[in-house]
This record gives sequence, structure tokens and C-alpha cells, in this order.
Amino acid sequence: MKIYITRQIPEAGIKLLKDKGYEIVVNPQDKVLTKPELIKILKEGNYDAVLCLLTDKIDDEVMAAAGSTKIFANYAVGYDNIDVPAAQKRGIAISNTPGVLTETVAEFAVGLIFAITKRIVEADKFTRQGKFVGWAPMMFLGSDLKDKTLGIIGLGRIGGEVARRMHDGFDMKIIYSDAKRNEELEKIYKVEYVDLPTLLKTSDVVSVHVPLLPTTRHLIGAKELAMMKPTACLVNSSRGPIIDEAALVEALRNKVIRGAAIDVYEKEPALTPGMADLDNIVITPHIASGSFETRSKMAEIAAQNIIAVLEGQPAPNLVKA
Ligand code: GLV
Ligand code: GLV
Repeated sequence: MKIYITRQIPEAGIKLLKDKGYEIVVNPQDKVLTKPELIKILKEGNYDAVLCLLTDKIDDEVMAAAGSTKIFANYAVGYDNIDVPAAQKRGIAISNTPGVLTETVAEFAVGLIFAITKRIVEADKFTRQGKFVGWAPMMFLGSDLKDKTLGIIGLGRIGGEVARRMHDGFDMKIIYSDAKRNEELEKIYKVEYVDLPTLLKTSDVVSVHVPLLPTTRHLIGAKELAMMKPTACLVNSSRGPIIDEAALVEALRNKVIRGAAIDVYEKEPALTPGMADLDNIVITPHIASGSFETRSKMAEIAAQNIIAVLEGQPAPNLVKA
């Protein structure tokens, strides 16, 4: 069996595949393959399985080139980079890495909430620049979180763990909106269901945790930003296109909202012009799941899905259209 891995990943996953006696080919370059490069590699290699990344666009053309590939195991929980209906038509399995990154991404989202509401990044820049000339009563005032309202858009595993941490650890009131109300999760996470406009109008911090779907693209645009409190902050660690980034830059520039902290971008890795010049936004390079522990576990999960399919079993983390 021959496996192609589109970029270097932690050794833990590669080891599982090697232990099965599979032949492993890892893209030796430390960069994302272009679509023509990927198509050429898959055509020539005729791999039995491919371990791909969220930066690889796996569409029908790529799958057609893949020949006898039985599974594309995505090294991510999100799989908006893959045309799942096309894979199903071709009988190719698609898997993701849910569960293992939940707490890691939730911790990162909590970090972003603190980074923006306490102005940590902006203040760090100021201090480094030698501008700190003495304590001052009005310098870098931020917002408290205790007794404020956190609005979670998308109460999935990650949204739920953010809710739990901010409620139990920091005494925030938590509300959520979602395509479907879930009364069981409401009890577990001590959250209250509201519709999206209510969430936007009443939250002091809004944190986005929905997958990217046709229905969630630009879920937050100019109209939604205008509904938010002028003192509120927006946090996104899910997928960039859920927020209309040009509208966000405009809103931050005009102080429609107080701040934003985002890890993902609409046209990743490009940033909307003007965004990096703003002081009221914290920007990180899509690293929310990037802990040593979790990236290793993600590699193992992706490998386990490949092994299952190549041994004639269903992929444990099969995703369906
Ligand atoms: C990371 O963004 C993931 O989807 O795992
Ligand atoms: C992803 O793992 C989610 O359900 O939030």
C-alpha cells in the first residue's frame, strides 16, 4: 500500500502507517502544493490513500487524478476544502480529526478573548516600542469579563468547551445561537438559546464556532456588525469566510465595535488590506489547534482512518455530505 502525505506532519501518524508496512511518500517541500502539482503527483503515484491538509483543495478534478485512492484523510476537523459529495459519488472516503482538537481550539479561543478584551497584544507592542514611560490611571483600559455576556455562535464541541470555560472559570453569562436548538447541551453547558440578532445585540463578546457551509458564509457582515454593541468584541477561530472581512475592517476602523481577534481569514493567507494597520484587532496565523499534543493526535487520527479503510473497515471519522 502506498500513502501520500501532502506536507510534513508529526511523526506519530507516520509511524502508525509505517508499522503497517505501508510505503509512505511525504511532500519534501515545506509549502502547500499547487493544484497542478498535486494532480501530477497523485496521477503518477497512484496512491492507495492520501493524507491531506486544510490548505489542499480536494475537488473532483483532483480526485479524478487520484486513480485508485480509497481515502483522503483530512488533517483537520473542518473539511470545507474537500468536495464531499463528489467524493461520495466516486466511492472515496473522506475523514476528519474531530474530538482531539476540541479543548485545544477552545483554549485558544479563550486566549483570543483575553488578548482583545484586555488589549494584551496592543500593549505588548507599545511596551516593546519603548513607549512605557510610567504608570497612568487611564492607560490601556480594557473590559472586564465577569458578569458580562458571551455569545457563542455554534454550540458544537468547541463552542461548548469555550462556554464551559468562560462560565465556570470567569463567571460570564453565556448565550448561544445555532441552526438547531439543543436543550440537552443547554443544561450541560449552562447556556441560553437566543436567535442570532438577539445574540449580536446583547453580547459583550461574540465567539464564532460554526463550520464553513454555504449557509454560514458571510454569516457576519456589515448588518450583523452594526447590531453589536459598540463596546463588544468579535472572536473567530473557525473559518475566515464566515465573516465578511472587508466589512469587519470597516467596522473596526469606524469603531462600530470595540475590537476583534481572529485566527482565520477570508482569503487565507492573504489579509484584507488595512486590517494589519488597525490597533483594535488581534491577528494570528490559523494556529488554534496548534499545540504539540494535539497536532500529534491529529496525525494519529488521520493515520487510523487510513488504516481502517485500507483494511476494508469503515473510516472511524468518515464525513458525509
Ligand atoms: C483547523 O482549522 C481544523 O479544522 O482542524
Ligand atoms: C468541532 O469539533 C465542533 O464541533 O465544534
